[in-house]
Amino acid sequence: MDTLSSATPAGLALASTEQIMELERRYLVPTYRRLPVLFVRGEGCELVDAEGRRYLDFVAGIAVCALGHAHPAVTAAIAAQAATLVHTSNLYYSVPGAHLATELVRRSGLARAFFCNSGTEANEAAIKLARKHAFRKGETERTTIITMNGAFHGRTFGSLAATPNPKYQEGFAPLPGGFATMEFGNVAQAREAIDDSTAAVLVEPVQGESGIHPADPAYLGALRELCSQRGALLIFDEVQCGLGRIGTPFAFQYFGVVPDAVTLAKGLANGLPIGALVVGETAAESLQPGDHGTTFGGNPVACAAALAHLAVSERDDVPGNARRVGAVLHEELERVAAAYPALLGEVRGVGLMQGVQVKEPATARAIVEAALEEHLVVNDAGGNTLRFVPPLILTAEQAREGVRRLERALARM
Ligand SMILES: Cc1ncc(COP(=O)(O)O)c(C=O)c1O
Repeated sequence: MDTLSSATPAGLALASTEQIMELERRYLVPTYRRLPVLFVRGEGCELVDAEGRRYLDFVAGIAVCALGHAHPAVTAAIAAQAATLVHTSNLYYSVPGAHLATELVRRSGLARAFFCNSGTEANEAAIKLARKHAFRKGETERTTIITMNGAFHGRTFGSLAATPNPKYQEGFAPLPGGFATMEFGNVAQAREAIDDSTAAVLVEPVQGESGIHPADPAYLGALRELCSQRGALLIFDEVQCGLGRIGTPFAFQYFGVVPDAVTLAKGLANGLPIGALVVGETAAESLQPGDHGTTFGGNPVACAAALAHLAVSERDDVPGNARRVGAVLHEELERVAAAYPALLGEVRGVGLMQGVQVKEPATARAIVEAALEEHLVVNDAGGNTLRFVPPLILTAEQAREGVRRLERALARM
């Protein structure tokens, strides 16, 4: 009982790092393999642990905290909205939701938005949109969703079926049917695969979880052409690469290819749970009242946070910063990779979405742990890649300092 009461909000300050770890180990379903650190505060690009040590954060809540931690504009928007109205449901109109839909449409040039609470839900909405779009056109056989090798679209059943990777799918059969896979980047295969049974092609313009693999713009262009010719929707999953991370407000703007729909989540509300499906004219009205919904989607507090994030992002040209500082980070990482050829390989990425290949997959986790001891927060993706997705407000000096800490970690290995 004593231990439990120390975990209540009132008792939090009394619990030591070890006590908190023990509570989680005992009472959480063990779905996560946590690193041994307890962060209690964040400021900009830094996190602070329970012992007061400061870390440079190159994970940013997994590509989430675009404006860093505790950004004053976002904090103020959350506080003001929380003090005004937290939740009403989707039975009623909403000021923050109306403005956020307007902003997303203005910035994307697409037509309408649907709000949910996470990336996987945004992709579920996209999959349902694609099927209903074909159905409404009377094409009831057009049901297949084609996704890519290496893709990651989320953990709920539709998104999981769209994620052709045994690491995520094993043990969860039967998965929903109507999903097919093709090789990311292979135009000839796309030409074969996309046909009149294809409801949509769903693709990450920069694959994140597979270890940071940017698409060739010509490949996305070819998908656009094939989908248009053959009556399928082209849907971009920009959950990880969107919203400024690769240097443009929407990732598709970087690649110069306009999809029929885009899914967003992660960075949108700078840390509050939100997801969005933004749809172009072609399919904007395919989902009608009753076709889809969620209790919390478009939650006023999350939408207010998102509006504050987008306003700052535009005012301060945060995507431009991601582009410039991303180039510095890329160059620095290439230098380090060249200095440690036995450990590190190719450096891949765009803007502030960078990855470094780890030659021996088993060492990726060890590097992450050594970096943490040097007060640098990074993580691994795809089993053999160090991933760098810091806040988009990172400075060039912070990028260099982060890489210096990585070098110290590597030197100790
Ligand atoms: C490209 C992509 N899509 C979807 C998701 C799932 O998002 P969420 O974890 O919010 O459900 C992720 C998460 O990493 C992602 O990177």
